[in-house]
Amino acid sequence: MKPIQVGLLGIGTVGSGVFNVLARNQDEIRRRAGRGIQISMVADLDAARARSIVGENARVVGDAREVIANPDIDVVVELIGGYGIAKALVLEAIAAGKHVVTANKALLAVHGTEIFQAAAERGVIVAFEAAVAGGIPIIKALREGLTANQIQWVAGIINGTTNFILSEMRDKGLDFDVVLKEAQRLGYAEADPTFDIEGVDAAHKATIMSAIAFGIPVQFDKAYVEGITKLAAADIRYAEQLGYRIKLLGITKRTDKGVELRVHPSLVPAKRLIANVEGAMNAVLVQGDAVGATLYYGKGAGAEPTASAVIADLVDIARLGGADPTHRVPPLAFQSHTLGEAGR
Ligand code: HSE
Repeated sequence: MKPIQVGLLGIGTVGSGVFNVLARNQDEIRRRAGRGIQISMVADLDAARARSIVGENARVVGDAREVIANPDIDVVVELIGGYGIAKALVLEAIAAGKHVVTANKALLAVHGTEIFQAAAERGVIVAFEAAVAGGIPIIKALREGLTANQIQWVAGIINGTTNFILSEMRDKGLDFDVVLKEAQRLGYAEADPTFDIEGVDAAHKATIMSAIAFGIPVQFDKAYVEGITKLAAADIRYAEQLGYRIKLLGITKRTDKGVELRVHPSLVPAKRLIANVEGAMNAVLVQGDAVGATLYYGKGAGAEPTASAVIADLVDIARLGGADPTHRVPPLAFQSHTLGEAGR
């Protein structure tokens, strides 16, 4: 079977990770997907940099719409980020009958309902494993591994920047501002770090997990969102003395009144596994009625961890027309009941 043809929109850190991992592991990936996965086009505003990454292996263009319009492209991978042009391009790709893989949590948390509906009507897949917790396959765990369960709650450290800041403030007694600069230097923080430190990035991810876990539409506007900017080193010290760690948790929970969706600093008993997740790592706890508590831990950002998730989605899509139909992942279909009372 001919390789599935992929067009990348944006080849920054994650895009180059996708390129490198696909090249390095191409034999295994081809075997597992039942066919090859080939990045044949890349659109990036910085064409020279894009060419230095892809060499002769893919055609580089400056206009993303050239990729979408190309009838040979089967899947569009959106790695631009944000709600603006990325939204227009994703909707155009869907309208053109392309499957879409995206790492864009902000886009899906805010406009997911429109995007998933457009995809369902056009009969294409929108896959987004990389949008939540980077390399941790939490979307697959919720949709596939735990599919027999009624999910009771999901709680996680889903923003590496804030976890790094809280860890450094505790370990080194450093002030918030100093550690934030270090997080930016290390490349953990979003372009606008406000999204990280005010809890918005974690709320985007919690919103997506909530929709998957409870079969509800994505409703970021209903989330209670509080970041870590008001925390002082003294708060962290006092918590420590009382036997707790302060963690920024994204929580979504089934209750009698509806589904809770919230992000806020939380006191976690120091002995708990999740209290000991340090630095820029992510961890997600999922409680299901049959399985009990499960815990997923790993890197929530970075070139290759995020590429690992993007490629997993590409393999799923390749399998749709590939060797093993038992691996088919159905398009998302959210039930249309509303989020109940949000907040604490
Ligand atoms: N800024 C995000 C974080 C990157 O710190 O977790 C991954 O989404």
